[in-house]
Amino acid sequence: MLSEALTVSAPGKVILHGEHAVVHGKVALAVALNLRTFLRLQPHSNGKVCLNLPNIGVKQTWDVARLEQLDTSFLEQGDITAPTLEQLEKLKEATGLPKDCAVTGHLAVLAFFYLYLSICRKQRPLPSLDIVVWSELPTGAGLGSSAAYSVCLAAALLTLCEEIPNPLKEGHGVRWTKEDLELINKWAFQGERVIHGNPSGVDNAVSTWGGALRYQQGNITVLKRPPALRILLTNTKVPRSTKALVTSVRNRLIKFPEIVAPLLTSIDAISLECERVLQEMAAAPTPEQYLVLEELFDMNQHHLNALGVGHASLDRLCQVTTAHGLHSKLTGAGGGGCGITLLKPVAFLGQYVFISDARAIITFPPVVP
Ligand code: MEV
Repeated sequence: MLSEALTVSAPGKVILHGEHAVVHGKVALAVALNLRTFLRLQPHSNGKVCLNLPNIGVKQTWDVARLEQLDTSFLEQGDITAPTLEQLEKLKEATGLPKDCAVTGHLAVLAFFYLYLSICRKQRPLPSLDIVVWSELPTGAGLGSSAAYSVCLAAALLTLCEEIPNPLKEGHGVRWTKEDLELINKWAFQGERVIHGNPSGVDNAVSTWGGALRYQQGNITVLKRPPALRILLTNTKVPRSTKALVTSVRNRLIKFPEIVAPLLTSIDAISLECERVLQEMAAAPTPEQYLVLEELFDMNQHHLNALGVGHASLDRLCQVTTAHGLHSKLTGAGGGGCGITLLKPVAFLGQYVFISDARAIITFPPVVP
């Protein structure tokens, strides 16, 4: 087992197209964001596990001896499978978390325990450690903060237990191999499932792999040489729950299948068209391609409103940017959170727009973990 301290980091993400539709098997296009989450793990021999999450006000310590007495046999599966509701109920009971564990801090602790007890299941005694996780990403804003948290936890715990190498120590440069990243991504997906219930896996995939990705039902394709898009990110600061929004879309699909299924199919077609245009732009960029990207933003934003995941604050963003000749859509689960505005490339720029609360501009090429 690793004895020295370890620091890992993973990026947040922006979904260009395909949010919600991706939960129902459609394509999503997502890019890593230059805002990151960082985790520092300090192994100890003090018989304690300390989890410190300063951004969300969690600081708790547990005795390893107590944790070892828990009946966690239900976590000792050979393969990595989705956590069941029953397992999560048992885990809440065992770790003293409340039954209605809906608060961000509780879910973060639950995801930590799920990953710690599963990944370290072969270790006796269980490792003593201090973990601190801090982030540049706002929580609950659609930028993949929970996925970046799960990716950091999975990467650090797998390294601690020597399931993947410590790239710094073993002289592999600072990069994990494709197989290592696949293992990190699989475990991070389980962390995401603990937090969100039934996520598609796109957020943890882009946080693990970085770059620009096409994602569909677990299949990840890296977009090669994506063009340098300038995207303004606006945080409406309206809080919302991804889990609740994903459930509301599912309910609308059940209630109006003939209406909602075609919307999801149309969003799929928007993602595919966007991918085609991005590839064309990489080869020979023209102002006309920007017009297509703008139209795709508008159409998708209307579809997302029809799915019921819009919000007055996002409508306002669209109005303000439209008044300046720019096009916006929500990104992530919607219902508030962040919106993205496609900025014109400098050569085509006619006028400037300023939006308060803009947090960052994403640029390609992306941040690689
Ligand atoms: C959240 O970032 C994206 C959603 O499509 C949910 C998911 O893919 O799991 C809304």
